[in-house]
Amino acid sequence: MPEREWWREAIVYQIYPRSFNDSDGDGVGDIPGIVEKVDYLEDLGVDGVWLNPVYESPMEDNGYDIADYRAIHPRFGTMADWERLLEELHSRGMRLIMDLVVNHTSEEHEWFVRSRAGDPAYRNHYVWREGEPDGPAPNNWESFFRGSAWRYDDEREAYVLHLYDESQPDLNWENPDVRADVFEMMRWWLEKGIDGFRMDVINLISKSDGLPDGDPETEGLPVGAEHYVNGPNLEAHLEEMYEEALADYDAMTVGETVGMEAEEASAYIGDDRALNMAIHFEHMNVDRGDGGKYDPVDLDLLEFKEIVTRWQEALADEGWNCLYFSNHDQPRTVSRFGDDGEYREESAKMLATVLCTLRGTPFLYQGQEIGMTNTSFEDPADVEDVWAQNFLEEALEGDRYDSFEDVRPVLEECSRDNARTPMQWSDDDCAGFTDGQPWLGVTDNYDEINVEAARADTDSIWHYYRELFALREEYETLVYGEYELLCTDHPEVFAYERSLEDERLLVVCNFFDERSAIELGLEGEVANRLLGNYEEEPSFSGTLELRPYEAAVYRLS
Ligand code: GLC
Repeated sequence: MPEREWWREAIVYQIYPRSFNDSDGDGVGDIPGIVEKVDYLEDLGVDGVWLNPVYESPMEDNGYDIADYRAIHPRFGTMADWERLLEELHSRGMRLIMDLVVNHTSEEHEWFVRSRAGDPAYRNHYVWREGEPDGPAPNNWESFFRGSAWRYDDEREAYVLHLYDESQPDLNWENPDVRADVFEMMRWWLEKGIDGFRMDVINLISKSDGLPDGDPETEGLPVGAEHYVNGPNLEAHLEEMYEEALADYDAMTVGETVGMEAEEASAYIGDDRALNMAIHFEHMNVDRGDGGKYDPVDLDLLEFKEIVTRWQEALADEGWNCLYFSNHDQPRTVSRFGDDGEYREESAKMLATVLCTLRGTPFLYQGQEIGMTNTSFEDPADVEDVWAQNFLEEALEGDRYDSFEDVRPVLEECSRDNARTPMQWSDDDCAGFTDGQPWLGVTDNYDEINVEAARADTDSIWHYYRELFALREEYETLVYGEYELLCTDHPEVFAYERSLEDERLLVVCNFFDERSAIELGLEGEVANRLLGNYEEEPSFSGTLELRPYEAAVYRLS
């Protein structure tokens, strides 16, 4: 059994501050707004919060373009507000995890301003290369957000690398001064009392020596990715980070690891290391084709089970899984892997069951607890996210789509904006999120799908989550127990066993909107249902007959 750690037992709730709760009517969520909802989080029963970036930023990428790591963006409040939030969470026994974005900064960050001006102390803080303004760029790398990963900077008269938006230049991690500055900043936050970091695209920090051209045929990831995904010095940089910034604190860390595969993960993840767990993407790519983010394909449950199982097994002895189906970069879980129409409640509960009964720490994204759905775009102007805007522009220039109406279904299925619409608190105007004009349109089903309604209905998704959290608390097996996949080849049902010492729990989940039978071979065993998303128990006599999106957790004896 892995060592007991608070973060193994925790349920983490992700807050996207812009869209959570607006306290001052400017249409943008803020920290005092989160403070107002701390009791809500306690009632829901989560143990900690991961807060998306609230730092000073020009907001080209909604705060992932940081201009000052030690300051709170005035739109979100003040440092005193933030301290209050920390206090309110801590006084209820909840933790606070901050977002650490150190692959890049904003071009407005002082380090960049000085680097661009040639200040010797900061000259090499970023990845600069010589070149002529009209090209060619130093290599063929592409940005994740489309287009070249290089921008010519007129002031410095050189190219600067940006794996994300033009305004997000990459830090040069090969420069020891950069590492020292980052580690000092991390310690500064830990000293303020935070409980850990979620590290943005952390496995991209080390780039291959000489920045060679990438293979132009790369699929799924931008051209050049093989030269910085788990780059040559990643392990060394993370080791140094652990020693210099983390070793003295009881902090939990979770790294966002783009393109990392299960087999590679144990090289970076572990208890006394910079990364306790990883936000990997393998299961997020399962319903995407070779074109990547905006190329949706049907879910193949066999592949999904294979990926989940590979990660469960790869981190069984050393390391730990971060469990998630949704976050601010992904469409809404129920629309994506469930059914946001007829079976919204059943399928959201089924997905909740998987999320909370696999081995790992469940991360819940705001709104998931009430089964919030994807949104719709009436007009190109409704598209807010920089990635989606770039995709739309390129799509309309190319010949695959004729018009906005043509691209619209893809946006409505894949855009990051789906996750960023305001939290639906009630059926009041703007879903109770703001008294002003919300920065992004509220999804129009808020009169039906909202927190107030979900709390009032004891059979709701919200209450089901609470039951799942209680079950995890009661059965340690759900946290620490071993995982074993059952009925591997069943194309519709995900079934697995969790076991610890003598205790055995069985989880069965139907991922489709049709009835499905499964032969579990449990003759002679008594199965007690502990939780399920249909009131009446499914019939269980050798075969288990599952209704659409049915989920059940059993105790075997
Ligand atoms: C991560 C963040 C995403 C951001 C990107 C660049 O993937 O989750 O929101 O746009 O990094 O920082």
